[in-house]
Amino acid sequence: MHIDQLERKWAGISLGIAGLFVVLILISALFHGINAPSHVETIDSARLHLSEEFAEDKLGPELNPDGSLTVRVVAGRYGFYPKTMTLPAETNITFRWVSLDVLHGVHIPMTNMSTMIVPGYVAEVNTVLHHTGDYPLLCNEYCGMGHAHMWANIKVVSKDQWLEMYNKGEANHG
Ligand code: CUA
Repeated sequence: MHIDQLERKWAGISLGIAGLFVVLILISALFHGINAPSHVETIDSARLHLSEEFAEDKLGPELNPDGSLTVRVVAGRYGFYPKTMTLPAETNITFRWVSLDVLHGVHIPMTNMSTMIVPGYVAEVNTVLHHTGDYPLLCNEYCGMGHAHMWANIKVVSKDQWLEMYNKGEANHG
């Protein structure tokens, strides 16, 4: 069977591009902390307010005994609850996101914190926020007419400053 020289060359280039993408995905996964969801945890989206974990008074940052944080946020048309939060820099943070209605997404620019929030599932992402300052929290999945207005705000402060605020009950502004 004869394969034209030019055809052979282009086939090589196409395969090369596919191979390059695989390598880039591996680099992202291994060195940039970008991971596919590793386990699937379900939750009843219609009864979040009655759930042990995502009741209104449980939302926002919680300090764990080992010094890490668990941050629980509910997404719903059209907002994130709590709407504003203060979080510590240089701390292991486990975000746990749930949706109370439709598919949402969330992204904190310049960090690995990016995930879809699928109704019925808990989306868990581990991250460390390295820089202090204000971060917008944006919905990045189209969820309806108010999608463009679905956002919240995170303020990142030093760990000492945060502990002081947390102990005074000021880290979560509802
Ligand atoms: Cu929520 Cu777009």
